[in-house]
Amino acid sequence: MLRKRQPIFAANWKMYKTIQETRAFFASFFGALSEYADRKTVIAPPFTALAAAREEIGAFKRQDVSIAAQNVFFEEQGAYTGEVSLPMLQELGVEFVILGHSERRHIFGETDMGVAFKVRAVCEAGLCPILCVGERLSEREAERTNMVIGIQLAAALAALPENALHGLIIAYEPVWAIGTGKVASAEQIAQVHAFIRSWFAVHFNSALAENIRILYGGSVKLNNAAQIMGIADVDGLLVGGASLDAGEFVKIVSCEI
Ligand code: PGA
Repeated sequence: MLRKRQPIFAANWKMYKTIQETRAFFASFFGALSEYADRKTVIAPPFTALAAAREEIGAFKRQDVSIAAQNVFFEEQGAYTGEVSLPMLQELGVEFVILGHSERRHIFGETDMGVAFKVRAVCEAGLCPILCVGERLSEREAERTNMVIGIQLAAALAALPENALHGLIIAYEPVWAIGTGKVASAEQIAQVHAFIRSWFAVHFNSALAENIRILYGGSVKLNNAAQIMGIADVDGLLVGGASLDAGEFVKIVSCEI
């Protein structure tokens, strides 16, 4: 079945893999992965391994695989010790940037406003943000999931015109499902993805809502990938732990959709 929106299988490596390990990953990954026209693979290694990842993808001549950064700072340059800018990422051939991941929000204190500046800068630079949203367990238990996600979306996309959102991807990642082995149920995923799509219809328009890709992330593994991809409004997966193993990630990317 041809899908309305091209699915994306994104790997978030977090703070794992040296340059050497990155090269070894791609050797086995490309050794086993067929080239798919109907899906896109995006790999987000740490900053230090982006150049090596780019080289490997080039060496294997794979158009279906792109690289992403896990974060960026919104200023082009300046006295910002420890930060990396968009021109620096563009020079490395980065096409996607993960923004607002819950680990950045909760461990590093990233705010909605900071995320909003970054989304704007990434859109203006012509790269695709993968904007992460998701509720904590206490928020879900208090039945505040939609409200929390609505606030995160409104804050991150505030003041952005519709034409700036070209290429925007949303990743729904319930905080309680990240790295815990607890996957949201099919009903929970379907409900939140439908809510996110309707949020775009209300706050922008139905054409944008129809085109925007919404990924699910949180304990995605080989044994649940195809099932999650079968849920309405799921346009792809954002995979942490299970993307570190080339063999497992090949199988996830190759899952039946
Ligand atoms: P996980 O991480 O697949 O290890 O749960 C997902 C993420 O943090 O993006």
